[in-house]
Order: sequence, then C-alpha cells, then structure tokens
Amino acid sequence: MKRVRPVVAIDGPVGAGKSTVARELARALGFTYVNTGAMYRAVAVALSEAGVKSDSAGVEKKVESVLQSAHVGFDGERITLNGRDISNIISNPEVSDLASRFSALGPVRARMRELQRAAGEKGGVVMEGRDIGTAVFPDAEFKFYLDAQVEVRAERRWAELRAKGVAADRGEVLRQLVERDRRDSARELAPLRRADDAIVIDTTGLSIAEVVERLKSRVQSRSAV
Ligand code: DC
Repeated sequence: MKRVRPVVAIDGPVGAGKSTVARELARALGFTYVNTGAMYRAVAVALSEAGVKSDSAGVEKKVESVLQSAHVGFDGERITLNGRDISNIISNPEVSDLASRFSALGPVRARMRELQRAAGEKGGVVMEGRDIGTAVFPDAEFKFYLDAQVEVRAERRWAELRAKGVAADRGEVLRQLVERDRRDSARELAPLRRADDAIVIDTTGLSIAEVVERLKSRVQSRSAV
C-alpha cells in the first residue's frame, strides 16, 4: 500500500540523541512520535513481574504466554502496561538491562514488530529504535542513523538519568552503555546496525536543535509534508 505521508526511521546506539531528536522532529513535522525502546522496556517490565528470566530454559514458551495477556499501550511519552501507567519506571537502569536481554528473543521481536508496523503503516510517523530502518520499515521513505563518540553518549545518558532523579555513577553508566550496545549489536535477530541506505549523522558536536534541523530539511526537501 502506498503511504500518503512518509515513515521516518531513526536508529542508533544508546545516547546518540534519538529520543529527543525524534520527539522534536515529529512535533515540527506534525507527525506521530513512536519510541520503540519504551515498548521493549514495557515488555521487559511485564516479563520480569511475571517472574520470567531471560536466560532460563524454555524461556520462549514462557514469554509467549505472558505476551498473550500483556497489553502495551503507547501514546507519545506515556507507556502503559495493561492500563497501568509505567512511564516513570521504564527509564531505570535495571529496566534498560532487562529490555536489552529480552529484546533478543524471537517472540518479543515478532510482537513488537507487528505493533510497530501497525502504528506506522499509514505514515506520518517518526519511529526510533535499533532496527526500524532494517527490519520494521525497511521501505521507510527516510532513514537516519545517529551516532556519537562513546564518552559523549555516556555523558548524555548520565545527565538524562540525573534529570529523572536516578542517581548513577558516571563510570558505571559508561560500562553499562558499552555492554548494552554490544549485546544489541551482537544478537542474531534484527541487531542494531545501520541500514545500507541510511543517512549517518554524528551528533557528537551538534546540539539537538541542529540535528533536528538537518533531519527536517532532508524530509521537507524530498516530500510534500
Ligand atoms: O532505546 P532504548 O534504550 O529505550 O531501548 C531499550 C532496549 O530495547 C535496547 O537496549 C534494545 C531494545 N530495543 C530493540 O531491541 N529494538 C528497538 N527497536 C528498540 C529497542
């Protein structure tokens, strides 16, 4: 089906600036913003509350059964699990780690891909994550891959946690970030990687406004949004 408005896919590692940039870009274009990381985080909360361990025997069966009764709702910044608002707990470092581990499992990815495709099928969406341009919308009209120097990304992640009132050690934030990126890139299913046709933007020395402007001008110059 031909989409009337485009899909803008933004992928990249932790702390590359994806969430803020995607949110602002969506606002500037009048598009819907979808944070797919928040969806994986919500599923991780559901699975961990159900007592599922990502490395236990027969984990896929257990995951399938929990997923059958877990309803993940997403509306911009607000994430719900079976109607309960869990937006304030999903950014915790423990949830980041769990989300990264559970997201490697086939049933989790299949369910998320289905929800994400449904959310973007009509277009007019800015969707950010790890596999949007490669697996969820390989036919996206616009694909961006944001990256930045690892120390800068860790510093941003640390500041983000502090702003949310989460106390964290700088060195520990860097260590966890490197480990999460390694795991997200090394997994077998839809790993983090740049789509061959994605535009790469190094956000190291750029402000959020500058990155948003670059993306916005690309989108506006090539489509009638
Ligand atoms: O974007 P984030 O840090 O909130 O994502 C949390 C984890 O979810 C990330 O470490 C890997 C997983 N994830 C994924 O596998 N695919 C996506 N499209 C988005 C996130």
